[in-house]
Amino acid sequence: MSDKPVTVPDIMAAKGKRKLAMLTAYDYAIASLLDKAGLDMILVGDSLAMVGLGMRDTLAVGMDAMIHHTRAVSRGVTRALVVGDMPFGSYQPSVELAVVNAGRFLSEGRASAVKVEGGARMLPQVEAMIRADIPVMGHVGLTPQSVAKMGGFKVQGKSAEAARVLMDDATAMAGAGCFAIVLEAMPAPVAERITEAVPVPTISIGAGPGCDGQVLVVNDALGLFDRFTPRFVKRFGEVGEAVLNAAKAYVDEVRDGTFPGPEHCFTMSDEEKERLKDM
Ligand code: KIV
Repeated sequence: MSDKPVTVPDIMAAKGKRKLAMLTAYDYAIASLLDKAGLDMILVGDSLAMVGLGMRDTLAVGMDAMIHHTRAVSRGVTRALVVGDMPFGSYQPSVELAVVNAGRFLSEGRASAVKVEGGARMLPQVEAMIRADIPVMGHVGLTPQSVAKMGGFKVQGKSAEAARVLMDDATAMAGAGCFAIVLEAMPAPVAERITEAVPVPTISIGAGPGCDGQVLVVNDALGLFDRFTPRFVKRFGEVGEAVLNAAKAYVDEVRDGTFPGPEHCFTMSDEEKERLKDM
C-alpha cells in the first residue's frame, strides 16, 4: 500500500482493475485507525444522525454538524480520500445553495469530495457543483433522505421497470460527471448491470459483489450499533462488546480500589511529605 494520498483520479482509474474499500467515520479517533487500515475512501455519512447522534433517521442532521464531524475526520486522515455527505435540505432547494454548501465541505471540512443522494432529478445541482470544481459522488437506490417518500428503508429496483429507473438515475449521475456512484439496497443483478453500464466506479451498500467497491457504516461493521441491523451488514468486529467489558472492568476496579495502582500515581520526596504533616 502506497502512503500517497488517494485522489479522485485514482478512484476513477480503479474501475475494472481493483476493488475499492470504503467505510464511514465521524470522528478523529476512528478515522485515524481506518486510514491506517488502508481504506481507499472514508465517508463522513449523514448516518452520523442515527449511529452517532441517536436520531431516528438522517433528516435532522444539518450542515454545521456535518462540517464539524468532517473536520474532525479530516484531521485524522493522511491517505484515504475523505468524502463529505451533503445532508437533507443542504442541496435540494436550489443550485446556488448546493454549490455554497458543497464548497463548505472542501474549504471548512477539508474533504476532497461530496456525496449527493438522488438521481436524474438532482442533475442541475450536481452539474453546478462539478462546474465549481467540486468532485461529486452520486448515490442512487435506497436514498435514506427520501425515507418519507419511500415509506421506510426499503430495497429498491425489485421489478424490471423499477430497475430501469435506477439505471437511468445512475447513468444520469455518471453523465453529469460524478466520479463514483453509491448503489444502495438493490438486487445484485441490477447493480451488476448498472456497474457494466457506467464508466465510473460503483460502490455497493447492499447491492452485491458485482460492484466496483463496497461501503458500510462503520458502527455496523464494528458492532457498535444495535438498534437494527440491515441484511447487508457483516460485523467485522465486536467493538461494542469490547467497550462494554472494558467499562465494566473499570467500574469494578474503581469500586474495589484496585485502580489507580501505584504505577498510576505521582509521588513526592520524603522531605516534602514530612512538611505536608504541618499543613
Ligand atoms: O450516510 C451514510 O453512511 C451513507 C452510506 C450508507 C453510503 O450514505
